[in-house]
Amino acid sequence: QDEGYQKTFKNCAELVPTLPRSKGWWLDELFQYQGFWMSSFPIRGSMLINDHFKPRPTDIIVATSPKCGTTWLRALVFSIINRAAFDFNDHPLRKLNPQELVLLFEGHIHKDGSTSFLDELPSPRLLSTHIPYSLFPKRMTDDTSACRFVYICRDPKDVLVSKWHFSNKLRPKEVPPLSLEEAFDLFCKGVSHYGPFWDHVLGYWKASVESPKKVLFLTYEDVKKEPLGCVRKVAEFLGVPFSQEEENRKTVEEIVKLCSFESLSNLDVNQSVAKRSERPVSNSDFFRKGEVGDWVNHLSPEMVEKMNQITEQKLQGIGFNF
Ligand code: A3P
Repeated sequence: QDEGYQKTFKNCAELVPTLPRSKGWWLDELFQYQGFWMSSFPIRGSMLINDHFKPRPTDIIVATSPKCGTTWLRALVFSIINRAAFDFNDHPLRKLNPQELVLLFEGHIHKDGSTSFLDELPSPRLLSTHIPYSLFPKRMTDDTSACRFVYICRDPKDVLVSKWHFSNKLRPKEVPPLSLEEAFDLFCKGVSHYGPFWDHVLGYWKASVESPKKVLFLTYEDVKKEPLGCVRKVAEFLGVPFSQEEENRKTVEEIVKLCSFESLSNLDVNQSVAKRSERPVSNSDFFRKGEVGDWVNHLSPEMVEKMNQITEQKLQGIGFNF
């Protein structure tokens, strides 16, 4: 293990026990770090990124709050930037889950006890993150040429419902399921992974307004409504717009089709329920309904009102709402 890694690791081990803590959504514990509730693993990841990561102008970071469309955006961005390299009928996305093709930044910054794993990846590096914008080092966020972020968010009511279902899949069989009421309370209090949800959205929203060349802000709802337009927008933002020839060949349509919920969720690789050794989560757990507005089937009118009020208040005056 390299020395720098050891030092950050030690700082983190000393810091985490001093942070405010709360019970999590499965049997995990969340800590409040720089204003956000996170488990100790991404806190360590964030500290390692701050201390050791060397950004490149070509780096692309897919950023999300969990359950906002990480799987979808990973698939879309991967297929946009690699469109010339693969045949759509024999595509890596047909054999691997998007999380294996677009690695989690905070999880791989210290792979195998060393911080050099990411340094050795070829450019352009495509990574995924849940870390809030304000937690990235200034050398990544202030320098317009350091790297680019593509962010996707989603109506918090759908995020809550998706997260509640997902959490109950992750909870060990021995403990009772998390009730929707409990999940709702935690979420509204901001105690959710990388939450408060609204602060996560605000950080990336502000950055996208201040630095539109650095941060592209998308919503799950917009991508559902206008997938072709959104894919073209991402390609332009990343400096690889579709040529007329690609348009004629219907490349944009191919990408949208390959990455659609129907297509990805029906692939063998994404239907697998085999438990992976390091986490009790299967590829199939990342695909549930893939719809906009499923909250109507779960939330009471009181819950809807309270959630809308929080959203209204938190996002007041910024020129964006769900
Ligand atoms: P639901 O639980 O509402 O169905 P994440 O990938 O950030 O963990 O988010 C998971 C949510 O995105 C789930 O929402 C899942 O069904 C949905 N999803 C996964 N792949 C998708 C795709 N290709 N298109 C649209 N939604 C997708």
